[in-house]
Parts: sequence; structure tokens; C-alpha cells
Amino acid sequence: MKIMSGNSNLPLARAIAGYLELPLTDASVRRFADEEIFVEIHENVRGEDVFVVQPTSYPANDNLMELLIGIDALRRASAKRITAVIPYFGYARQDRKPGPRTPISAKLVANLITEAGADRVLSVDLHAGQIQGFFDIPTDNLFAAPVMAADIQARYGDQSLMVVSPDVGGVVRARSLAKRLDNAPLAIVDKRRDRPGQSEVMNIIGDVKGRACILIDDIIDSGGTLCNAAQALMDEGATSVTAYITHGVLSGAAVSRVSNSALKELVITDSIQATEAARESDRIRILTIAPLLGEAMRRIADESSVSSLFD
Ligand code: R5P
Repeated sequence: MKIMSGNSNLPLARAIAGYLELPLTDASVRRFADEEIFVEIHENVRGEDVFVVQPTSYPANDNLMELLIGIDALRRASAKRITAVIPYFGYARQDRKPGPRTPISAKLVANLITEAGADRVLSVDLHAGQIQGFFDIPTDNLFAAPVMAADIQARYGDQSLMVVSPDVGGVVRARSLAKRLDNAPLAIVDKRRDRPGQSEVMNIIGDVKGRACILIDDIIDSGGTLCNAAQALMDEGATSVTAYITHGVLSGAAVSRVSNSALKELVITDSIQATEAARESDRIRILTIAPLLGEAMRRIADESSVSSLFD
């Protein structure tokens, strides 16, 4: 197997390569004067099982094009099998038509990746499970929950925990984490969003008084959802609120919003390369999912079970 990385998250690709004790494939991504992307692979990949690591995070369009062009280069170089490793799958929030004459961009992106020449996809905590079905090629959706659960047990295991979903849509994810935490009780924030980009906490379903709350979600973008939820939980008598979020999108003023919030700590993974502000924030901690991805890639290459990683 070979691992090739785009520019979106080189530290993660290097960590995966380190876990697998493999060098990264020698390739370069350059730009023409007008910003068009040019990928060149400097070693033979004919007949190889190649994994391209490229989360499609900010700048989403550039990173997506880099992924597509990298896959095209590998296909034309006669790689035997190409797996698009997309730890954070961007455009995932546009996974249905919220109104007439709107796109389903997640499906479009899935079509583009397939058409470029990917044979398989490997992702982590897809925003919605059904996105797996948007691909007509084998797609593995890994879960960061085991990595998070181990961290929660180590740091907060001695406290009276309550797992909280910040919205009704996240209940399945929250329940699965609660199960891994010795069946911790579950609460739900009933959130109403009046306008896109704004979130408003309405009410907490469940008694969080005296509990150390663990908020779980797949994405933190502006931070509005989480910070409002954290405040609502504290107002209801929680002793502390810590958030575990797989993908730290953290756009705009999100880091400072988190720093000024009621959150004790925000824990994200390295599915997206953290900005300097996020890395320097003493309120944000980053867990690595490199071993999880590396192990899944090894199993894909060996044709062994990936799902048993989560037993
Ligand atoms: C929504 O469905 C997602 O799971 C996240 O809750 C949302 O994307 C977070 O966005 P923000 O941080 O901008 O509130």
C-alpha cells in the first residue's frame, strides 16, 4: 500500500504514515499563476493500493479540487486501487433539499469523487449516515467515539456524567457514546434555529442538575450551537460542560467564542488541521485519530474487517 497526501492536513497524513511505518508517496501539488492546481507524482504507483489523505475542509473548494486532481493523476498512473481518505467530508451539511430549487451538494461531491476515479472512500463521522449511500463505491464511515470515550473515562470517569446531544438530530451519536461510558444517562438540547447561522437554545430534555455534562457533536463551525447549549446546561445546574466534537471547523470568531463561553473545555480531533488560534487556545484540546485511520487503512489493504475496530 502507498499513502499520498494533499495539502489539506499534512500533519495527519504524516502521523498515519508513521503509524503504518510507511513513507509518504513522493508527490507535489503546485499552482499555476491563476491558482489552477497541478498534481505530479514522482514515483511509480502502477499496480499499487493507494490511499489519498485529504479532508475537504477550509478552503473547501481548493481542497476538493486537489483531491479530485490527485485521484485523476493516480488513475492515469495505473494505480490498482485508489481509496479517498477524507477524514472530514465537506459539503456534508447539504445532504437534502431544505426547500425548492436547492442543491444536494453532498451527493454532487460524492459523484465527483467517484467520477474522478476513486474505488473506495474512508471517512470519519459523516454528518449523516445516509451520505454513505450517496456513493456507489464501498465507503467506510469510522467513528471517533472510541477515542473520545477513552479520553472521557481517563479525565472525567470519576464524575457523575451526563451525555448531551446539542440537538435532536444528534441523539443516535450521543446514545452510542453514552453506551461506551457505562450507559451514562442522556439529555437533549431542544434547539430552534430561526435563521441560518443563528442558533437559539430553547430547552433541556433531561435533568442535568449536579452532572458533569459531555456535549457531543460531529461539527463545530461558528460555535454558536455549542456555546449556547453549554450556557443552557449551566443555567439548569450542570456542574461543568465539556464538549467532544469530531470536526473542528472553527470558522470566523469561533475560537474566541469558545474561549468566552461556559465550556470548561472543547475537545476536537485532528480530522481537520487546527488553525494557530485553535492550537494556542488553552480551552481547546486536540485528540489524534491517526491510529484509528491508520488501522482502518491497514485492514482495508489486508481485506480484513474494519467494523470490528468498533466492537
Ligand atoms: C448541525 O447539524 C451540526 O451537527 C452542528 O451542530 C453544526 O454544524 C454546528 O454549527 P455551529 O458551530 O455553526 O453552530
